[in-house]
Parts: sequence; C-alpha cells; structure tokens
Amino acid sequence: MEKGLKRAFDSGAQNYDSARRKLVPCFDDFYRAAIELIPFERDAEFDVLDLGAGTGLFSALLAYSFPGARITLVDVSDEMLARARERLGPGGARFRFVERDYAENRGLDGPYDAIVSALSIHHLADDDKRALFRRVREALKPGGVFVNADQVRGETDAMERRSHARWLERVRELGASERDLAQARERMKFDRTATVSAQLQWLREAGFREVACSYRNLIFAVYSGEK
Ligand SMILES: C[S@@+](CC[C@H](N)C(=O)[O-])C[C@H]1O[C@@H](n2cnc3c(N)ncnc32)[C@H](O)[C@@H]1O
Repeated sequence: MEKGLKRAFDSGAQNYDSARRKLVPCFDDFYRAAIELIPFERDAEFDVLDLGAGTGLFSALLAYSFPGARITLVDVSDEMLARARERLGPGGARFRFVERDYAENRGLDGPYDAIVSALSIHHLADDDKRALFRRVREALKPGGVFVNADQVRGETDAMERRSHARWLERVRELGASERDLAQARERMKFDRTATVSAQLQWLREAGFREVACSYRNLIFAVYSGEK
C-alpha cells in the first residue's frame, strides 16, 4: 500500500469519527444496508473479518446488531486501530485487532462466516481489488458472505462528475468544516474507485454467487457475494 495513504489515516485518526456523518451524508442507510446483508439470526455466534476497520465504526455497529459475533479488525494504520481498541477493547475476547496490509499477497487466515469492509477497498488498484476478492473467497466458509460498503466510481464519466458534485454540495449543506474537507481531500488523493458493474463482475470471476448491489447513493454503494 502507498505510504502516503497510511500517513493520511494516521494523522486524521483523531478527528475521523466526528466528521463521518457529514462526509457520508447517507451514513445510516449505508451502514444499515451492509448489516442487513449479514445472513445470521441476531443471537447467532459467528466469525467476522473487517478489512480496513479503521476506528472500528462498522465493527461496532455489527457488534451491536449481532451480540454473538466475534470480530477480527484489520487495519494498516496503527493510529486508527488504536481508536478501535479504545472503542471495542472493553468488549473483551470477542474482538481481535490485527495491524496489517490486507493487500499483501498472503492468506487472510480464517475461515470466517462473513468478511466485511467499509470505505477501504476503493484505495486498492483494480488488479489488487480482484486479487483481494479471490483471497476473500478463500478465507470464507462455504455459504459465507462478503459485504463491501464502499465509495465507487460512476458508471460513466458524466455520472461520476455529477455524483461527485452532488456529494460535495450535500457535505457542505451538512456543515463539514474546512478542516474535515481538507483531510477528506488528502485521503481522496489515494482513491482508486471502480464502477459497481466492474466490481460485481470481478466477484463473479472470483467464484462468488448471489452477487448483487443492494444500495446506491451518490458516490456510495453496498454490494455482496456468497461463497
Ligand atoms: C475511510 S477508513 C474506513 C474505516 C471504517 N471501515 C469505517 O467504516 O469507518 C479506511 C481505512 O482503511 C484502511 N486501509 C486502507 N487500505 C488498507 C490496506 N491495504 N490494508 C489495511 N488497511 C487499509 C485505512 O488505514 C483506514 O483506516
């Protein structure tokens, strides 16, 4: 992974959570759509891997919805992961924190019942996304699911420009500070977004079935596949 990306997340870790609802205007629906794709009963016990877990925002929402879920949080930024430890560490042994670059070409361990990710995989180059999808499938149990809630590229250049411009309008309406926007811009320099249609195709090529996009709003989408 690019060193600048880790630096951008390390240095923005302290303000990360407070700016989230402004920078992700569809915050509630976006994360809820991802959680609704987890195919287990509320009281089930199962193993989850959260790729690019950051400060543990998505993991915390998952843990709340599924009190029996055991969650492994992976992130390359020690500063982001330190915030996740503060947030979820008191939850005890059901949370594990692993500092690593998930783009490295080695196994993701497991096997897991669900592998999830939010707003992280769009930092990988397309070939690395495809390779990751293959490794994600290998790390899932049969019947396991992969859910990615992410920033995506518009299907055409015109759509990309329009959804990006609308997103910026919404972020400003919601009152994001200039500092929040500057930090977001710094991180967005490392974006390598891909269209939803390409990513669904890559999931199918990696061997996933039941592949679908279940949510879309401006520059955000949630898609999933089953092993
Ligand atoms: C925008 S944050 C999202 C955090 C969290 N998932 C959420 O929904 O708030 C993206 C995170 O992905 C991490 N990340 C990006 N590329 C990574 C990689 N190749 N390996 C591990 N973590 C990565 C960053 O360090 C950062 O913490």
